[in-house]
This record gives sequence, structure tokens and C-alpha cells, in this order.
Amino acid sequence: MTVRLLCLSIAAATIAAMLSAAALSAEDASTNLSPQALQEIAQVEAEIDRIEAQTIERVAKPPDNQVQQVELLGKLILYDKQLSVYRNEACTFCHMPETGFTGPVSELNRTTAAYPGSLRTRFSDRKPQSHTYAPLSPVLHYNRGQGDLVGGNFWDMRATGRRLGNPAAEQAQGPPTNPVEMGLPDIACFVYRASQRPYRALFESVWGQQAFAIGWPSEVEQVCDRPGPPSASDLLPVHLGPVDRGRAGTTFDQMAQSIAGYEASAEVTAFSSKFDAVLAGKAKLTPQEQTGYDLFRGKAQCNSCHRDGGPGEDPLFTDFTASNIGTPANPRLPYYAESQPDAFGYVANPAGSSFVDGGVGSFLAKGHLLSQPSAVDSRWAPLAPANQARIQVPTLRNVDKRPNPDFVKAYGHNGYFTSLKAIVHFYNTRDVLPRCHPHDPNEATTCWPAPESTDNMNTSKMGRLGLSDAEEDAIVSFMQTLTDGFMPINQ
Ligand code: HEC
Ligand code: HEC
Repeated sequence: MTVRLLCLSIAAATIAAMLSAAALSAEDASTNLSPQALQEIAQVEAEIDRIEAQTIERVAKPPDNQVQQVELLGKLILYDKQLSVYRNEACTFCHMPETGFTGPVSELNRTTAAYPGSLRTRFSDRKPQSHTYAPLSPVLHYNRGQGDLVGGNFWDMRATGRRLGNPAAEQAQGPPTNPVEMGLPDIACFVYRASQRPYRALFESVWGQQAFAIGWPSEVEQVCDRPGPPSASDLLPVHLGPVDRGRAGTTFDQMAQSIAGYEASAEVTAFSSKFDAVLAGKAKLTPQEQTGYDLFRGKAQCNSCHRDGGPGEDPLFTDFTASNIGTPANPRLPYYAESQPDAFGYVANPAGSSFVDGGVGSFLAKGHLLSQPSAVDSRWAPLAPANQARIQVPTLRNVDKRPNPDFVKAYGHNGYFTSLKAIVHFYNTRDVLPRCHPHDPNEATTCWPAPESTDNMNTSKMGRLGLSDAEEDAIVSFMQTLTDGFMPINQ
């Protein structure tokens, strides 16, 4: 890009950011979001609009290969803010490329860890995961030999993939009607809104002309403009006949499959990190990175969960099981305060400040309060106690990807940790350092708060690793080699 073009596009982005800040709708203005967060949000929104517009340009001359058409559709849907109740929040609002497809707002990562929904006063209970490599998670299954559940998407594995054969596709069916995320009152609204978009014809050419041939009721617009959840007496507020309802469900599945197709594409799941280059013999680890890798596989035992591969196994840096590592509660989550009815009478968190994230166990026992895209297999209910408070092992790929060194990322399901050094220090010293006093200035350095839950907490592979400060740093520097984009995509 020439300097002049770059300046122009920066100017355009700034104007767009100013415009959207000036046009703050009532729902934005009524939040407690800091000016700093609002400013970053406006920039992210402008970037999402830019990418969506650029991607729409490709619809005029789509690729002739069906796989690439599905990927293109998935990208168009993923960056489409029109598919949220207030037409302001795309999936990517919480998953942008510059952070490895997790939360793109440094100020939120540093403070709330969770992200606001389309209705900006509602926040969810967890930190956005990276969706890179998520489609490579197996369909959730019970491995009798391991005695463990393996696979699925989400921190609690609840997008099982058992219905569509694809956890990432089922995952994509959660956010649209999650009241604290995209906030639509009915999945049919996701389909209706897509039918109004410039990618409709491409969608029909890939998935069939029936996709949007649905007899929409005359009040569909008004119904879809009202935030969910729907009232208990009218759970599917877009009133459709049984055949149209079935068709809307199928199109919703295909939208989700398109999203998963894009997430699995080389643009997102790239295998282009320095680590991959080293495996391919095209780069060498520095001595510090190599020390970190040796510790990762050895004394620090990270590799027993964040697997670096093996025969027939991709190095995905997760084994898709779940553990409770004893992460402290994150009191900064706004979710704890969401115990009162909001302007629409909705209570996101009836448990208020006594909420404890039960992870996989809670999903197995009672589903997940905020969004449950896959049905729970009732035969697995007996596994709930042994899975209480266990959280799926996240991939470590892209864990350090950030737009600049000062950008803060949050780590763990509740975003308690805000640096890689802190989490490594935690693994190293969880069971060595004393408990912190309330407001202890030395928190996370020479003391740790209590775990959010001690149920099923792992005490064999962590807590007392005996690593020196330099060894902790070496592990961090090894994790930094897992950032995609080291090898150019079109090489
Ligand atoms: C308001 C923020 C927000 C929005 C919008 C959002 N997500 Fe997420 N995403 C999250 C959070 C938080 C989690 C973890 C939730 C949990 O475990 O309960 C998550 C988890 C995921 C995962 C699971 C990754 C894994 O390894 O299991 C994928 C994939 C994903 N999101 C894709 C999407 C898609 C696709 C959309 C749009 C249809 C979307 N997200 C919209 C916040 C968001
Ligand atoms: C027994 C399995 C296990 C071991 C061993 C383990 N981890 Fe983890 N790791 C997890 C789980 C589970 C989580 C999610 C914890 C949570 O959300 O509370 C996690 C989270 C993380 C995260 C946060 C990632 C994100 O996207 O939020 C990092 C970084 C990490 N681990 C690095 C390491 C390192 C480095 C080691 C070795 C020192 C290690 N882990 C050892 C299971 C493990």
C-alpha cells in the first residue's frame, strides 16, 4: 500500500470511528463502558465494517470452487453486524484476526475480560476463546480408556457436534440468540436478516434455492428488532408454519456450517507459526525458545495437556480434554452484578456474586444458562460430578498474537490472568505461595487468591514446578513462537 493510500484509509477509519461514536445509540450510551473502551470499540467496529465491505466485493466474482465459496460465505456471515439484534455486533466483535481471533479490545481485556453483547449493558460470564483451530476439535465423546470426555467447543465443551457432526458448526449456533451476545429472539431472525444481505444469491447457489424460500410473517422485522430471550409463553416469536420452521432450521445449520468452513480455512487455521516453520526445517528456535520448549515438554509438564502432537496427531497444543487448574475467580467480570432485571426484564445471572463457573460439570448436569446450542446427552449426566469446575484445555496457538506489545490479552475462562508471565508463574507457584489478603498489592507475584473452585482441581501436574524466573520467561518465549503469520500465507 502506498503511503498516500495508507493515510487515506487511516483518515477514513478515523472518520468512521468518529461517526459511529457520535451516533452512539441509546444502548451504547447507557453502559458503564469507559471512554477508552468505547473509543477502541469504535475502531474495531470500523475495521469490521471495512472487512465486510471488502469481502462483499468478492461476491460479484466468487471463486469457482465450492469449498472456497463456503469459506467466503462463512467470512461474510462472521463479519456481518446486521445479524445481531441492534445490527451493531458481528461475531468478530469478540474474535478479530489481530489477536488470533479472540477479544480485540485491550481495555476490555484488561478490565472486564468478558465482552458486551449487542445490548451493550449485558456481558457474558466468560472470556472469548480464540476460534482458530476450533473446527479441528473432535465431536465430543467419552474415551473409556482415558476415562474422560474429549472434544467439543466452548470452555465447557457444550457445543458437542453430536447433531451436525461438527462442534464448531454447533458452536456458531450459540451466539445469535444468546441474550448477552448477538441477542436475537429467534434463530429464524438470523436467517431472515441474512436473506436481506448481498450474499443471499451466493448462499442460494451453494446451499440451494430453497434456503430463503420462507413465508415470513408481516411483523418479522419488529419481532427481530426486539432483544431476546423470548417470553416463555412464545418461545419461537417469529411465527412460521411447520415446513417454513424446518426450512429456517436447516438454513440456520448451513449458515453455521459455512462459518465453521471459514474457521477451518487456511486464513484462520493457518499452521503458519514459527513453530510450524521449525517443524518444516525452515527456521530455528532461539536458545531461549528452545529452553522454554524443553521445559514445556519436561519439568513444567505443559505438554501433558497442551499437546505438541505425536504420531498421527497435529500439534494443536490441546488434547481437547478438560481440567480444573485452580484459576482464581475474576471479580472484574461484570456478570457478577447482572442479578437484577434489566430494561427488558432479563436477569442474566440470578446467582449474582455467588456465581461459580461449574464448567463441564454444570453443562452435563443442567446445560448452560446463557446459550445451549447442542442438546445434552442425558446418558452422560453421571459424569457431571467428576467434571465439576473442569474447563476445556485451550489451544496455545496464537496465545500471544497481539497488534502491539502494549496490547493486553486476558487468559483463562474468566480472563483472570492478563499476561502469559502471570499464568506461567501461577502454574509454577500456585501451591507454594500463601493466599493473598483482600486487596493485597502483591497479588499474582508473592501470593495467590483462592481458586474459583477446588472441585476436581489438578494437583499432580502443577502448582509446585520449581521453575526459576528465567525458566518462566523461557516458557513464555516458547509460547510466542506459536503465533501464526510467521510464514506468509501464499508462500
Ligand atoms: C459478545 C462476544 C462474542 C460474540 C459476539 C461471539 N463470541 Fe464466540 N465466544 C465468546 C465467548 C465468551 C466464548 C466462550 C464462551 C463459553 O465457553 O461459554 C466464545 C467461544 C467461541 C468459540 C469456541 C472456540 C473453542 O475452541 O471451543 C468459537 C468457535 C466462537 N466463539 C465463534 C463465534 C462465532 C462463529 C460467533 C458468531 C456467530 C461468535 N463466536 C460470536 C464471545 C463471543
Ligand atoms: C492438567 C492439564 C494442564 C496442564 C498440565 C497445563 N495446562 Fe494450561 N490450561 C489448562 C486448562 C484446563 C486451561 C484453562 C483454565 C481455565 O480457564 O481456568 C489452561 C489455560 C492455559 C492458558 C490460557 C490460554 C487462553 O487462551 O486463555 C495458557 C497460556 C496455558 N494454559 C499455558 C500452560 C503452560 C505454559 C503450562 C505448563 C507450565 C500449562 N498450561 C500446563 C490445562 C493445563
